[in-house]
Amino acid sequence: KMSSSAPFYNTVLNLTKQAGKLIRERISQLNKNVETKSCEIDFVTETDQEVEKLLIDGLKQAFPDHQFIGEESVSSGEQCNLTEIPTWIIDPVDGTMNFVHGFPHSCISIALFIDRQPEIGIIYNPMLEQLFTARKGEGAFLNGKPIKVSQQQNLSNSLVMLENGTSRDSEKLKIILENQNILLPQVHGTRSLGSCALNMAMVAMGAADAYFEFGIHIWDIAAGELIINEAGGVVVDPAGGPIDRMSRRMLCAGSSALAEEISQKIVQYYPQPRD
Ligand code: IPD
Repeated sequence: KMSSSAPFYNTVLNLTKQAGKLIRERISQLNKNVETKSCEIDFVTETDQEVEKLLIDGLKQAFPDHQFIGEESVSSGEQCNLTEIPTWIIDPVDGTMNFVHGFPHSCISIALFIDRQPEIGIIYNPMLEQLFTARKGEGAFLNGKPIKVSQQQNLSNSLVMLENGTSRDSEKLKIILENQNILLPQVHGTRSLGSCALNMAMVAMGAADAYFEFGIHIWDIAAGELIINEAGGVVVDPAGGPIDRMSRRMLCAGSSALAEEISQKIVQYYPQPRD
């Protein structure tokens, strides 16, 4: 069976692999030309910018009427606007802090939305050769092999992904620590990979049971949403109910029971401004 998204999928996969090669070559380089964005721990490197350009140029050439939401294009003033027109949502290097330090958990996260719904999701860590893929209705895969969420129902048996984020806002840091205090005594353990997309990939493959974060952006979660849904999991608003992709809030889990238990227990935070 040939899916209607096949030409889009083949093109983006080729470009993603080319871009991955660039990240793999650059991660051990000493001078990475690091600049800061929203605050002193929010980084961008020339590799982020080059990878985004490689992906957008290649996709524009193949599909001239498609639209783009790219992390680095938005930070240099482009609109973050999701319409019904086919739109590629791109984080060229998710886990930029890891990339800067040489910690081998960074990835390209790229999704195609059509009619505001996810059609294709790809998360690629070129250092560890982990390629997570999904197409709507066709399941989720790691390096071509099907993956499934854990279906864990209980918080007390869960491994939960948590992140500290890239903001030093004291109100937000306070809530992050409060939530760690609430969860740590109630779960098997907590982990952070330093990349929202890779944390979501761990939930999709059943290696972790849940993850939530306040302060993420649409490009951090766009590919992960489809990959988790296709692996049988849920991606929702941390207070319960459907995900609002521009709200900068996300909770995902291997079962809806677990998602509900977490959303009832955690302290909520509403980042401003929205995407
Ligand atoms: C960041 C990473 C990090 C998460 C931040 C994101 P970036 O993305 O995903 O794990 O905690 O909220 O902004 O800046 O490396 O693309």
